[in-house]
Amino acid sequence: MGNTAVWTFFLISILRVCRVHTLLPIPIIILEDQVRPNALTEVSCVLPSIECRSFEVELKIITTEKLENCISHKGDYANVTCTVNVTSEMNGMEFSCEAHFRTKSKPQKMKIQTEPEFTDCPDKLIWTEGQENSFNCKALGHPSPTVTCEMNNTIYKNEEKFIVMKNMSGEYTCRATNFDTITKPVTVSVEYEPRILSIVVKPSMLVMEGANVTMTCEADAVPPPIYSWHPQTPHVTFHHDNRTLQIKEVTSAHEGFYICIAQNKHGIKTEQQRIIVETELIEKEKDPALSVQGKNRGENIKVTFSNLVALLISLNLFYYLW
Ligand SMILES: *[C@@H]1O[C@H](CO)[C@@H](O)[C@H](O)[C@H]1NC(C)=O
Ligand SMILES: *[C@@H]1O[C@H](CO)[C@@H](O)[C@H](O)[C@H]1NC(C)=O
Ligand SMILES: *[C@@H]1O[C@H](CO)[C@@H](O)[C@H](O)[C@H]1NC(C)=O
Ligand SMILES: *[C@@H]1O[C@H](CO)[C@@H](O)[C@H](O)[C@H]1NC(C)=O
Ligand SMILES: *[C@@H]1O[C@H](CO)[C@@H](O)[C@H](O)[C@H]1NC(C)=O
Ligand SMILES: *[C@@H]1O[C@H](CO)[C@@H](O)[C@H](O)[C@H]1NC(C)=O
Repeated sequence: MGNTAVWTFFLISILRVCRVHTLLPIPIIILEDQVRPNALTEVSCVLPSIECRSFEVELKIITTEKLENCISHKGDYANVTCTVNVTSEMNGMEFSCEAHFRTKSKPQKMKIQTEPEFTDCPDKLIWTEGQENSFNCKALGHPSPTVTCEMNNTIYKNEEKFIVMKNMSGEYTCRATNFDTITKPVTVSVEYEPRILSIVVKPSMLVMEGANVTMTCEADAVPPPIYSWHPQTPHVTFHHDNRTLQIKEVTSAHEGFYICIAQNKHGIKTEQQRIIVETELIEKEKDPALSVQGKNRGENIKVTFSNLVALLISLNLFYYLW
């Protein structure tokens, strides 16, 4: 209420001061006295004083010939002065002047709508499990499009950070949306360090002397792991890119622990597998763990095992094993 009263008073005050000038004073044209052909002459238009400075006044000289270099001055005795290239044919030419109130709106910008367009959105992304990442698809358009990428109803906002999980691998659909929507497929591969799933021993970890035995190591990793085995005793061969270790004609010297090592650029994992060799002297017992304690074989294993520990330390693998 207070505001309205103030504004009303303010408007009335302006109208009262400017009331006299709602009709502008008549502008006056001023020409030079002595005008010669093939020369320049100045033409001016002056508006007699208006005390009300709240309104801007525009002055315009009207004539049939071309006016040049017009210079305006605002304020009291507002005026405009132009020059004319004089020719002898211009004798009797008329000049007059118009005065207009000038008001101006606040500027408004034109908004042009353009469809979204991906400018930088790679087809393939490679992430690493456990690390922070996000989609970073750039799209242009007016209004500025919002970008999301989704797979199986899980939606990620562009540039939204998250910790990468294995199950984030797959085909995503990225969308850029303003008044229109466009999509593009993006393939995400999540890489991770190896995890050893199993070591399969055939025929079994309990082998008869002279038999053949194979151990196959299975690890899950992206990119696929490189396999190796320790120790590499005599008569040992490797197959399937080192995944399988084969011992032909097992002797008691082969008894002990074998370590599968699976490695990729994100890490290294090890898993051990024991082999127990049955000589003909020993009866097969139900519990293989107990059978090792018998005779002098415990020592054998100990020696083999401490060799193994030494080997691991030398290979810096001790940490991974324990
Ligand atoms: C035009 O206006 C300016 C500034 O008010 C003044 O200095 C100048 O004398 C005026 N020119 C004429 C021709 O009235
Ligand atoms: C008026 O004369 C000036 C030089 O005196 C010249 O630069 C200009 O181009 C002329 N303008 C016209 C419209 O002839
Ligand atoms: C997404 O869903 C499809 C079927 O609905 C399924 O086959 C696929 O494994 C799912 N992908 C992921 C990464 O969950
Ligand atoms: C991935 O697994 C987590 C739980 O482990 C689950 O919350 C998330 O929705 C899964 N993401 C996808 C894309 O399947
Ligand atoms: C062990 O493998 C060798 C060579 O592959 C083969 O000649 C031999 O018969 C195998 N021994 C047994 C017990 O299967
Ligand atoms: C197999 O392992 C040996 C060492 O144990 C290594 O020199 C060789 O490059 C490996 N081969 C493959 C195909 O990984």
